[in-house]
Amino acid sequence: MAKLVIQGGNRLQGEVRISGAKNSALPIIVAAALAVEGECVLDNIPKNNDVGTICLILRSLGVDVWFDEDDKLHVVGATLREHQAPYDLVRKMRASFYTAGLLLARLGRAEVPLPGGCAIGSRPVDFHIRGFSQMGADIAIEHGFMKAKCRKLTGTNYYINRSSVGTTMNMMMAASLAEGTTILENCAKEPEVVDLAIFLNGMGAQIRGAGTDVIRVDGVEKLHGIEYSIIPDRIEAGTFMFAAAITGGDVLIKDIVIEHLRSPISKIEEAGVTVEKGATEIRVIAPEKLQSIDVETAPYPGFPTDLQQPLVACMSVADGTSVIRENIFDRFRYVDELRRMGADIKVERETAIIRGVPQLTGAPVEVTDLRAGAALVIAALKAAGTTEVYGVDDIDRGYERFEDKLRGLGASVQRVETHEGIDAFAQIRS
Ligand code: EPZ
Repeated sequence: MAKLVIQGGNRLQGEVRISGAKNSALPIIVAAALAVEGECVLDNIPKNNDVGTICLILRSLGVDVWFDEDDKLHVVGATLREHQAPYDLVRKMRASFYTAGLLLARLGRAEVPLPGGCAIGSRPVDFHIRGFSQMGADIAIEHGFMKAKCRKLTGTNYYINRSSVGTTMNMMMAASLAEGTTILENCAKEPEVVDLAIFLNGMGAQIRGAGTDVIRVDGVEKLHGIEYSIIPDRIEAGTFMFAAAITGGDVLIKDIVIEHLRSPISKIEEAGVTVEKGATEIRVIAPEKLQSIDVETAPYPGFPTDLQQPLVACMSVADGTSVIRENIFDRFRYVDELRRMGADIKVERETAIIRGVPQLTGAPVEVTDLRAGAALVIAALKAAGTTEVYGVDDIDRGYERFEDKLRGLGASVQRVETHEGIDAFAQIRS
């Protein structure tokens, strides 16, 4: 286990390169195993722990997965043979449930543990299960597993109850190799959904409409390997944009797709930050003091729920009161930690009311989930004195070399190993 020790007060300056999108990499790595011919060679894959976990899960299913010396990820799906996803790996990451679509499409059988709850509230997979059932799978839920089997998935018309990135992606993967046509309605429109559709079509799938409410998939016999480079991570880019904003910084954020960030850019400009836009980069020039703003999270192209926490951290020292409404998940647990740094935030059901304070102060704080960790680091960059951010493992799940990139912008941040997890009782007996 480790913590980040941060001295607040440094203005972030310089340039930072954004890595590939975690939420594209995870479904695309799983989808790559749908190929029965050739291999997929994936570029711009972020080297974070969630990517590591999904690769280990694929290996446990018999798939050959490895990074080469040029940091490209190779996936050979032909050797897929196991239909049971291992609980000890799946429990770490909800996105493991994408293997259900892969296993049903390739093997006609899947035994995948249901994802547990996590720090951002209950996250069921009932929409996924209903979709598989409508495609002809016989499904039993027992002992915490979804057990499904089918001779062959068949096309269906499926209206997804609410915008769901995971469900849209799992259905696209399963439908790609189903018999006949699948029409998915009320689909998520996130850029990562479009990235997956483009990748699958490159493998020989027939998918139309990704990025709109209705996606049509004409099933094909088989898919083949391709080379592909995934899109940049809009959430990482937004995280660095808010880190620059809170410190009154001047940062060039490179290798991004600007239209994926329209909402966060518009909101941070409303808070008084200048954002100069290039072709694939933005220059973020922040004032000494941010202005308060009101935001509510929404499915893409609305303001992303994954940037709600970093934004709240930014607004905790803005001039005035901000109201931020979270419509996707229950993800305000980290506010207790911001309060320990002196933030004045009241949470009423799905709304946070943030009264800007003149100054945050450093404190030892605990990461409750990936994006909460980013929020606490952002607050620490501005707080007076030293902040120790415990539970960095959660940050490592979704950010590649986070503290290195921050140090490259002038932040004072060190990673320090802690001795958590050592049996406390054993210590008092010695
Ligand atoms: C994806 O999660 C992302 N994860 C999340 O990013 C992101 O916050 C979320 O989409 C945004 O919608 C990955 O891509 C790996 P959903 P996902 O299905 O697919 C409800 C991060 O930090 N729902 O779009 O799990 C659900 O509870 C992570 O990178 C059901 O009720 O989210 C939520 O309220 C956090 N039943 C809403 O839909 C279902 O079967 C949207 O969830 C599925 C979802």
